[in-house]
Amino acid sequence: MSQPILFVCLGNICRSPAAEGVFRQMRPGHPVDSAGTGGWHVGEPPHGPMQVAAEARGYDLSPLRARQFVVADFDRFDLILAMDDQNLAEIKRLQPVGNTSVLRRLTDYAPEAGRDHVPDPYYSGDFDGTLDLIVRAVRGLCQSLDEGLDQGPDQSLR
Ligand code: 4NP
Repeated sequence: MSQPILFVCLGNICRSPAAEGVFRQMRPGHPVDSAGTGGWHVGEPPHGPMQVAAEARGYDLSPLRARQFVVADFDRFDLILAMDDQNLAEIKRLQPVGNTSVLRRLTDYAPEAGRDHVPDPYYSGDFDGTLDLIVRAVRGLCQSLDEGLDQGPDQSLR
């Protein structure tokens, strides 16, 4: 069974579309999407430098378009992966009582990286470092999906 996965960041033009593009390539056909908690860039393609960095590694982000996270996403996605604690707190705030979607940090899937969030390259300019971390974590995510561990303990309350 393929549990639909949603990657969430702030603008949906850097980190979460990169995670979506990497995941799409690693798990073709698995239901996946990305969204931003903010709406400033709705309808835009991923940020140019993010696309260039991803393209250099063979990930094509060009078909993706930004959209804002909506409460209905809790009905569509079993696993919602946030890039940082700000995104996580915002989606947790919006989660309807009784909804069973699992909310986690993407970095939970790369514990060896020793990071508790994916830093925002929109501000840092480090698009390559961002991709390094995202690729590691998405690999870990795929491994946990293979092992059936994706519905593990909800880490959002740590
Ligand atoms: P993202 O980066 O959350 O990784 O897409 C951002 C891009 C744009 C803005 C914030 C974060 N912004 O405020 O415009």
